[in-house]
This record gives sequence, C-alpha cells and structure tokens, in this order.
Amino acid sequence: MKSELRGDYSRAGKDYSVEQNWSSYSGEEHALFQRLFQRQSKLVPRYACAEWIEAIAGLDAGNEIPKFDLISKKLKAKTGWAIVAVPGLIPDDAFFSHLANRRFPVTVWLRKPAEFDYIVEPDVFHDFFGHVPLLFDRVYADHLHEYGKGGLKAMKLDAVKMLARLYWYTIEFGLVRTPAGVRAYGAGLLSSGGELAHCVESPEPRRLNFELERILRTDYQIDRYQTTYFVIDSFAQLMRETAPDFTPIYARLRSSASSAARKPAPAA
Ligand code: CO
Repeated sequence: MKSELRGDYSRAGKDYSVEQNWSSYSGEEHALFQRLFQRQSKLVPRYACAEWIEAIAGLDAGNEIPKFDLISKKLKAKTGWAIVAVPGLIPDDAFFSHLANRRFPVTVWLRKPAEFDYIVEPDVFHDFFGHVPLLFDRVYADHLHEYGKGGLKAMKLDAVKMLARLYWYTIEFGLVRTPAGVRAYGAGLLSSGGELAHCVESPEPRRLNFELERILRTDYQIDRYQTTYFVIDSFAQLMRETAPDFTPIYARLRSSASSAARKPAPAA
C-alpha cells in the first residue's frame, strides 16, 4: 500500500475490513454529510439515472452518515449485497474478493469541510451516495459481482490495468441513454458537485457508445473532468457485453499495444 493514503489501517483485518464505529462521528461530520447530500439531491432529479433515483428514495439516508449495518440489512434482502467498512482504498485482491462475494467496501472517513467541492480519494460520501444505491438494482448488482470475479481472474492474467479502465468508464463515470437524454450512473459523477451537470449538459466532452475493447485500451485521468464518457443503453447491455471471456481480448490488446509502440512515428 502507498503510505500517503488517508485513513487508519492499523485496525484493519486481513480483508481490510474495520468496524464502522458509528458513534465516533462528530456532530460536525454528520452535518457536513447532510450538506453534501442536500447539494447533490438538487442535481440528481435532472442528471441521475432512474434506477439510482428509485433506490435512494427507499433509504432515508440524508440526515446523517448512514449506519452501514442497517443499509446492509436492506441490501441483503433486495439483492444479496452487504456493505463492508474499510479504512480507505484497499489493494486489488482484497477489493475484487469483496465484490466477488457481494460485499461493497465503503470508506469510513468523511472529507474535511475544505474539501466540500472536490476530493481525489473516495470518502464515505462518495462511496455511499455514489455506489450503494445502485446495488439495489438487480442487474447492476449482478454485473458488479461478475466484475469482482473478473478482477480476480485479471490478476492472474496480469490484466488489472486494462480491466480497471472498464470500472472507471462504467461504475465510476458511466452514462446511460434514456428517452429523456443521457443520465449519469457512475458514482464519480453522482457524488460530484460539478461534473454531474457537466457530464450531461456540456458540449465539450466526447460521449461514445459503449465499446468494450476501446474502453479497455483508453487511459484515464483521475484529477480532472473526463474528456470522454462511454454511454450504455442499459445495465442489461453492460452485463451482456462484459460476459464473454476477456482472456483473448487482453492478449490481443497487449500485442497490438506493443506493435504500436514498435512502429516508427508516422511522417508529419
Ligand atoms: Co468510487
């Protein structure tokens, strides 16, 4: 693990899980969570996908930092998922193992007030508000389970970097086409004060149709608005198009990347 990560890893178990320790949040932290929640709640009716909007309505989660146990009970009943509290970012193998067992890791700490508008590392607001509601959608939930299993497989194939791009352009920054126009389902968008409107309304970014191989070879930047979004038609499409064995795709992309690197630059 990189040592500059935020969060207290000293009490984490082998799977990086910790106690949420809900009573240790301060009143200021609950109030900050509420303010973040209220700001985003003004944007989501216009910019979030219907599945997310439907799920958040059943959660009554905006007044304080949620108790993970209570949310897990509801999730278990609906799609068989649970939340597991973690100190922050965790290594690939622990992350994929949790997903492969229908457990979603949620960071316990909340950002500082000065980070109201922007934070690079995921905190409890991003993880909870962005990711958790969609776990109530059966197809999305099943897809994320498959992604976790695919992650463990990608580790053996040394292909995590390629697979992580899929997560980035779907689970974090994905758009979905609806009759009313494109809407956000990516957690990085749903939890962002600025990019949520930008991703739907700005004429600047590219919005490309979902294309698996293109995504697997498209690099991304983590510290600015995305210049390219990929748009799915439905979670069923995401499920269907990621179902094939990626092994030959990884091999093909690897060999075309290395032959591209060997080619001399084209004459100007
Ligand atoms: Co995230």
